[in-house]
Amino acid sequence: MIIAIDGPAAAGKGILAKRLAEHFGLALMDTGLIYRAVGMNVVRAGGDPEDAEAATAVAEKISAADLDVGDLRSDTAADAASKVSVVPGVRAALLAFQREFAANPSGGAAGAVLDGRDIGTVVCPDADVKLFISATVEVRAKRRVKELQERGLEAIYARVLEDMKERDARDQARAVSPLEPAKNAYPLDTSDLDADQVFERVLEYISSRNQEV
Ligand code: DC
Repeated sequence: MIIAIDGPAAAGKGILAKRLAEHFGLALMDTGLIYRAVGMNVVRAGGDPEDAEAATAVAEKISAADLDVGDLRSDTAADAASKVSVVPGVRAALLAFQREFAANPSGGAAGAVLDGRDIGTVVCPDADVKLFISATVEVRAKRRVKELQERGLEAIYARVLEDMKERDARDQARAVSPLEPAKNAYPLDTSDLDADQVFERVLEYISSRNQEV
């Protein structure tokens, strides 16, 4: 069983992916983390994440160990990830990495949950379940501010909102694998829902589909 979850940043994909993986006993891959690892490896080597050649070379060498590095949740990593993710060579290299995981999930699990931007459209177009999780940019910025503050970091709403709009625009406008719902994805706007309600709605959707089959 493959569950593909796509949507913009801070829409609630991560927590949903984790809960679905636990519920169904599936392996979990946060694909944004791979783009973050590529971006940070470029930055750490003194390179520019917008340098297509440097970013592609790093992406071709990425391994599971690179995903365990500490600072991948930072805004610097998010920004670098968004920049390397427009590079076609980076996307091609990471496509193979993600498909390998989906085909052979870790721990011998019977399937996987992958969350990202192009899972249902490109990485796993044959996924059994495709979800497109969104929320207004204002709600997502508020959630991100709360999350940063809970981690003891300073966060200014206006700045987070601007950054998020910039990243949304970059993710949606890129030529290769832009952020968009797969044609047969279940769309869910989480602006007025908490994590429990999102999980319940998705479980209802999955069970209604299973009854159709
Ligand atoms: O989900 P996230 O914030 O960790 O993602 C970081 C960046 O990586 C995001 O701006 C777009 C990119 N990304 C992508 O292009 N394709 C994916 N499947 C996952 C993330």
